[in-house]
Amino acid sequence: MADIIIENGYVLTMDSDVGDISKGVVVVEDGVITQVAGSTEQTADIVIDARGSVVMPGLINTHSHAAMSLFRGFADDLPLGEWLEDNIWPAEARLTDDDIYTGTQLACLEMIQSGTTTFADMYLHMGHVARAVEDSRMRAALSYGMIELGDAAKGDSELKVGKRFVGEWNGKADGRITTMYGPHAPNTCSREFLLKVKEQAKKDNAKIHIHVLETESELNQMKETYGMCSVNMLDEIDFLGPDVLAAHCIWLSDGDMDILRDKGVYVSHNPVSNMKLASGIAPVPALLERGVNVSIGTDGCASNNDLDMFEEMKVAALLHKVNSLDPTVLPARSVLEMATINGAEALGIMAGTLKKGYKADVVVVDMDKAHLTPRYDVASHLVYSAHGGDVRTTIVDGNVLMDNYEVLCMNEGQVLDDASEASENLIDRLHSNS
Ligand code: NI
Repeated sequence: MADIIIENGYVLTMDSDVGDISKGVVVVEDGVITQVAGSTEQTADIVIDARGSVVMPGLINTHSHAAMSLFRGFADDLPLGEWLEDNIWPAEARLTDDDIYTGTQLACLEMIQSGTTTFADMYLHMGHVARAVEDSRMRAALSYGMIELGDAAKGDSELKVGKRFVGEWNGKADGRITTMYGPHAPNTCSREFLLKVKEQAKKDNAKIHIHVLETESELNQMKETYGMCSVNMLDEIDFLGPDVLAAHCIWLSDGDMDILRDKGVYVSHNPVSNMKLASGIAPVPALLERGVNVSIGTDGCASNNDLDMFEEMKVAALLHKVNSLDPTVLPARSVLEMATINGAEALGIMAGTLKKGYKADVVVVDMDKAHLTPRYDVASHLVYSAHGGDVRTTIVDGNVLMDNYEVLCMNEGQVLDDASEASENLIDRLHSNS
């Protein structure tokens, strides 16, 4: 007997060999998908009736700072420097271990409720992030964000923390947690430090998560320091490869894009954050045209201000249409691929597709709603009309985390109360300057 059968739904497999199944079943056993078909002879402990709904792979958020959910709406509409240096950094410096746990829990709750099943996170106090992921039963690729600023002693201690985290948490939470190295960015980590990180990551067979060319000021700084841009500098030290997930990648030249393609670098596109912080527009259509794997991320809640991947998909599609004055770029299906298949490949996990042998990370989207009626094209609705709140059921690793809008894996009210309290205490500490 199987564990779960999801039946009667429109199955968006994201498997190009199979295509969509307008009324089908997805069968799950031991955390893995065992059958995707029109019907099944099997029986299961849990049968989910997905009538009037779309059954699809869980969305994969490839760039986040989950615990920053505590900074949602805390400092908006400010110039980047003022936002970061006068608001975010002082607040981050006062975050406690408990704050990190609470903020990550809040983020996991929001992601589960909006159909995200995996996220790639880079932040601080990562043991507490990992604990929250383990408790929430989500899947995540986690990295400690290392900032060295050319200080060799600081670099050594940062790498030590990153290394310890990789060693302690990789493969934990029943294999749902994988770990990465997280050197923050090429302008906050020196060339020498990045080389050390690369070497260590190779030794540990771990991937690397890094911000690249998010801002024009990074580009200028790099030119001043190295006489070349970030991508060229990283290429020169042989840092780039298919083990690298590069977030943002906005200020790229054509040559940079060729390098990213040739080296097999994975790019995470974060359109809402880039628009809100007025960082610029990543050349996503040109990257995709070259065959670069581009996935989608939300970035942290301080610059988004939510973790809704449905919203992120829509903004991605719209941004590149208006930017190129071409309504044919980034069609709905391509955007769905970015948010599922491409994300899974970037993180090296067998997910993002409803296919036999793949991880049972599945969401059910309720289509029986005014804003999703009538229904000509499911992919179009998912990108242009649906939002995270339309997700009614979320399954990760074969565990039902939310069933028909009811969150089963955590106490929703408690998580909201804890987060509100943590934010009030944080503001008190900021004001008393302690
Ligand atoms: Ni970021």
